[in-house]
Amino acid sequence: MKVTSKQLRKSWLSFYEGKNHTDIGAVSLIGDGATGVMFNVAGMQPLMPYLLGRSHPQGKRLCNIQGCVRTVDIEEVGDASHFTFFEMMGNWSLGDYFKKEKTAWTFELLTKVFGLDKDKLCSTVFAGNDSAPRDEETARLLIDLGIKPEHIFYLNDNWWELEGTTDTPCGPDNEWFYPLNASAASPVFPDDYVEIGNDVYMQYKKTATGYIPLENKNVDTGFGFDRMLLFLNCLDDGYKTDLFAPVISALEKASGKAYDNGGEDRKAMRIVADHTRTAVMLIGDEQGVLPSNTGAGYVLRRLMRRAIRYCRQIGLNGEALLSCAKIFIEDIYGEAYPLLIKNEKYILDEIKKEADRFEATLAQGIKEFDKCVTSLQRKNEFMSKSNPDYVKETVIGGKQAFRLYDTYGFPLELTEELAREHNLTVDRAGFDEAFKEHREKSRVLEAGQFKGGLESHSQTATYYHTATHLLLAALKQVCSPDICQKGSNINEERLRFDFNFSRKLTDEEVARVEELVNGQIKLDIPVVMREMTLEEAKNLGFTGVFDSKYGEVVKTYSIGEFSREICGGPHAEHTGLLGTFRIAKQENVSAGVKRIKAVLIR
Ligand code: ALA
Repeated sequence: MKVTSKQLRKSWLSFYEGKNHTDIGAVSLIGDGATGVMFNVAGMQPLMPYLLGRSHPQGKRLCNIQGCVRTVDIEEVGDASHFTFFEMMGNWSLGDYFKKEKTAWTFELLTKVFGLDKDKLCSTVFAGNDSAPRDEETARLLIDLGIKPEHIFYLNDNWWELEGTTDTPCGPDNEWFYPLNASAASPVFPDDYVEIGNDVYMQYKKTATGYIPLENKNVDTGFGFDRMLLFLNCLDDGYKTDLFAPVISALEKASGKAYDNGGEDRKAMRIVADHTRTAVMLIGDEQGVLPSNTGAGYVLRRLMRRAIRYCRQIGLNGEALLSCAKIFIEDIYGEAYPLLIKNEKYILDEIKKEADRFEATLAQGIKEFDKCVTSLQRKNEFMSKSNPDYVKETVIGGKQAFRLYDTYGFPLELTEELAREHNLTVDRAGFDEAFKEHREKSRVLEAGQFKGGLESHSQTATYYHTATHLLLAALKQVCSPDICQKGSNINEERLRFDFNFSRKLTDEEVARVEELVNGQIKLDIPVVMREMTLEEAKNLGFTGVFDSKYGEVVKTYSIGEFSREICGGPHAEHTGLLGTFRIAKQENVSAGVKRIKAVLIR
């Protein structure tokens, strides 16, 4: 039995359309704010008002396939069956048909359309409690349809509600199970079984004080699209269905690693594939989420940065996300989600920007993290030597985690994950504290600025200083790698930069230099200061005037991979502060030395 994802989409929708349901299509992945849940986590979520009694403009019988995002299990992604994005095949009765029709249709769909063996189906129903009675009615209907009585189980947790919400519809549910290995002779419930979907009989409203019956008796059905596809193709690995297989094989090709070898490489491929898919869906969503440091944008950033880190594990960089994203958009989801095709360029551009932003600091951040681990280990070794009762420290400090967040763009959860790999934890409270402190400081700074109407003069000069570094790096790329600084002068209105070059730059060269500098500004890259020995700085490719005026330890400033200079500072914290860079003038200083004056328009 081979079923493609396209066929499955069609058969779900046409089955219910055949029962007079209207396909209402999918809505945004972002929650509508009614429940306080950030993403849609179930197909019913956008239909909440109608399940509570409002009349739906498209009728009482509805169906669709709705994308959902659940990130609670993000740490589990990497195994065969956890995903952060999935689709739910749904259908609803809004006060129309109820248990009799619903049990019959689910049974018909599973056994006649999908070809599952009725003698292997298992079903669970609500066992009953103080809020609602035991669901004998559904059990009876299932037996009448042909499900073996010994395959029906009464359970207490057969109750479905949207966790963490009130004033939302809920009710007892009937869950459907099938053996993972359908050819096994006599599978045993529940060990050999997995849930394939459920029918919720939504007849209550959850309030702050308890459950009250609804006027309407509704049905809310949800079957996992990805999981059903797995089943129908007799697979036991979600990444082998046609929703992922082309992406996995692209990753195999690019990395030269074999997915089927298992282990850490396979885990990394799964994470890259899963997280990239969710990123594509979020950026390409009608509400167009972008990576940021709050809300849904932060979840997106976490996913993307986690994916980029796992790319490194299989020898790839953030570019791999782009190739995966292209396959998801063009080959896998474009037909069902035409908006992705329409927004393809935008989605790819945004993925590239975030990848570039993170990659600019990732390697240094990892080094910084490793340093934290090493110093903790050293301290532990040292202390244990002098005190046999010493209890080893296993916590990365909150301040260190905040530095990784603020300077290197490491989401806290990423630092926690890295820590776990070393059997360490992170001081979350300390992180929050450092975060708060930082915010307070910025507030004070901003207040000091909003009074004068303008930021302080010295700060503007700082931005020009950073622009000078960007300019030198760009000149090296555009004109000659041999270019070096012959003189520099900065005031609040402009920068002046002298360098060794025999002629004026052409108009094209000027435009290219501006483009490169503005590109780095747009990427909003942190300017990272590190102290190191002069020797180390030279080896790492930092430029500067290597003469005796430097002491043994020098300050270095890097702007991603773009610029590395030995320099005393100070600099802007990140390039996004600079504004737009324009070359205002070129002058001749002497034979072989040219001068550029440039401004930042802000
Ligand atoms: N609302 C039910 C679920 O999400 C159908 O499983």
